[in-house]
Amino acid sequence: MKITVVGAGHVGATLAQRIVDNELANEVALIDIVEGLPQGKALDMWESTPISGSDCFVYGTNDYADTKDSDIVVITAGLPRKPGMSREDLLAKNAGIVKAVTEQVVKYSPNSILIVVSNPLDAMAWTALKVSGFEPHRVMGMAGVLDTARYRSFIAMELKVSTKDIQALVLGGHGDAMVPLPRYTMVGGIPLTELLPKEKIDAIVERTRKGGAEIVNYLKTGSAFYAPSAAVAEMVESIVKDKNRILPAAAYLQGQYGYEDIYLGVPIKIGKNGVEQIFELQLTPEEKAALDKSAEGVKKTVAQIQL
Ligand code: LAC
Repeated sequence: MKITVVGAGHVGATLAQRIVDNELANEVALIDIVEGLPQGKALDMWESTPISGSDCFVYGTNDYADTKDSDIVVITAGLPRKPGMSREDLLAKNAGIVKAVTEQVVKYSPNSILIVVSNPLDAMAWTALKVSGFEPHRVMGMAGVLDTARYRSFIAMELKVSTKDIQALVLGGHGDAMVPLPRYTMVGGIPLTELLPKEKIDAIVERTRKGGAEIVNYLKTGSAFYAPSAAVAEMVESIVKDKNRILPAAAYLQGQYGYEDIYLGVPIKIGKNGVEQIFELQLTPEEKAALDKSAEGVKKTVAQIQL
């Protein structure tokens, strides 16, 4: 198992560390355009393995030839947000970066599974699909696991319970119109709606929607990376170990939920082939209207992309 992580920034490097520490691969290539950055971070990581006991070899490079024959490629390359920016503000720069990266990835790892992390997420996953020419089950985007983790962590804080006991689902695009679903949120098997009044749930939903911006506003010079990298690692593990986890993630929809030719966060089964199955939920008219609004936003962003 060989995994390439494109982008040695905070998300990429932290993800590489998680993969190494959890021995999710035999080999990890960390690649970036900045000379020395991936080499330095990866060597530092490798030097931690005698202590951690991991046998996962990790190295840094600026040359895509070193990423050859990767089984999984995670694309984190691109600019992060600064305070006041929306994810869509990154489109112009990041679409070009994701396109160029995808071309290199396809050249050297034609059989890989791609996980896109760059923002605006749903549009960048769409870009990677179109540029790669891969089957849709081999290209997915990470956002739902992160958004759902934020939602779960806020619920746990409010109820003072273990985050482990909270099962939940956030649908839609990775933007402020994302759709957390209280009706599908369980706390130790108890519906959330029986444990918290509507105003509290609404406040948690709102905080989840703005969760990325909350971190950007604190950090000022970049965006979140601990939770995003943990989210990607969970998806990677489900592929590597063929676990068939059911996780929310951006998948290519071809008629599901009434949408065509769009990436949107939905519950999917993730296994050795990538997206093994897309689950369609029976949404209430209110939930569907919220998802439509989110989908419209993604469509508008994608319409601006010139490949
Ligand atoms: C976030 C950015 C990375 O949600 O999209 O933190």
